[in-house]
Amino acid sequence: MSSARTQVAIVGAGPSGLLLGQLLHKAGIANVIVERQSADYVLGRIRAGVLEQTTMALLDEAGVGARMHAEGLVHHGFELCFGGARHRIDLRMLTGGKQVMVYGQTEVTRDLMAARAAAGLVTVYEAKDVAPHDYDGKTPRVTYTHDGQPHELRCDFIAGCDGYHGACRASVPPSALAIFEKVYPFGWLGVLADTPPVSHELIYSNHERGFALCSMRSPTRTRYYVQCSLHDKVEDWSDQMFWDELRRRLDPAAAAAMVTGPSIEKSIAPLRSFVAEPMRFGRLFLAGDAAHIVPPTGAKGLNLAASDVLFLSCALIEHVVEKSDAAIDHYSTRCLARVWKAERFSWWFTSLTHKFPEAGAIGQRLQRAELDYLINSRAAATSLAENYVGLPFDP
Ligand code: FAD
Ligand code: PHB
Repeated sequence: MSSARTQVAIVGAGPSGLLLGQLLHKAGIANVIVERQSADYVLGRIRAGVLEQTTMALLDEAGVGARMHAEGLVHHGFELCFGGARHRIDLRMLTGGKQVMVYGQTEVTRDLMAARAAAGLVTVYEAKDVAPHDYDGKTPRVTYTHDGQPHELRCDFIAGCDGYHGACRASVPPSALAIFEKVYPFGWLGVLADTPPVSHELIYSNHERGFALCSMRSPTRTRYYVQCSLHDKVEDWSDQMFWDELRRRLDPAAAAAMVTGPSIEKSIAPLRSFVAEPMRFGRLFLAGDAAHIVPPTGAKGLNLAASDVLFLSCALIEHVVEKSDAAIDHYSTRCLARVWKAERFSWWFTSLTHKFPEAGAIGQRLQRAELDYLINSRAAATSLAENYVGLPFDP
């Protein structure tokens, strides 16, 4: 078995792992990323689209913000659609000047990969049987096979940035984990298309046929979603069926303005709320989707991953530079305080905007009353807006 050593072994080259690697590198801390998939596969996954201001600031700090500022779309509001009409939530006005950035996760990942390559940092792609070991002691290791050869990476710390299905959380004895989970009885069917967005801002629609979301990646590329059954298969949905269903769930003006075209990607994502506590086990830290999942309605998943990574990078830097473990010891508590607020918001926004057949007619009336309240009460709209742009960091 070949053996190598680094300071921090990072498992997973999604946005969490790549961003952590970049922040640690900037602070002079050596790291190696071990990823199960190929770089092209990672870049092919179409996911998040909305970045909070704090995430943008962190990407700047990591030195990868230039293209985001040049090509990303700054949004000062979004629209809620229900009862056949659209109502604007003015994020800037309601939050004292805050905004969000529409810039795809694919592009964030691409920028981070390019920075990592330019810095000559090691990422092992297509690693098989990745496993963390001995993180209860002082000499943790990550083992994996690559090109059929066994490898061992010795390190001071392991960062489990390997997503919901990763090996790091799975390596923790179940008795050491508290799991909180809610699986929603529907999914999102997403389509990416080279068509101009139907509106210059996002539209979140509550319709009796189900939720719909009109998002975008650029002035010429759209990302649209419709709530679908968990039993649906992507093959069941022709492009025409998708566009017809999306139009039905929008107000007449948006339906008429919708430009359609062939899909360039189509996928179904289940919706889940999930938290694993704690997020630290000795010298193993979980970050991002490895520790928590939110339904995508609130656009919080990638942003939460970024705040975990900020807290983790600060803690590791404090350990190395100041020889203090205070931030390491506080890592899990600090992350979870923010995670639970985003879990609450994502659950609430999902409950407000989706069709829950089991909630019956009273459920629909209650949703409608809350939507009416939201667009008529500044206090209610402010609560939505301040969560959507991202809550401030706790101390
Ligand atoms: P991941 O992106 O899952 O990356 C984990 C990496 O680890 C992957 O590359 C994986 O291949 C690798 N890996 C897994 N297992 C192993 C192993 N055993 N060994 C080595 N490597 C492994 N969030 C937002 O903030 N805003 C949005 O608008 C938004 N929209 C979304 C829309 C959809 C449809 C979906 C599905 C998600 C959305 N999200 C959004 C959530 C966001 O995409 C995730 O929260 C984000 O990808 C988390 O990043 P991560 O790096 O923690 O995990
Ligand atoms: C997206 O563009 O993919 C997107 C935008 C907003 C959301 C979720 C997903 O709430």
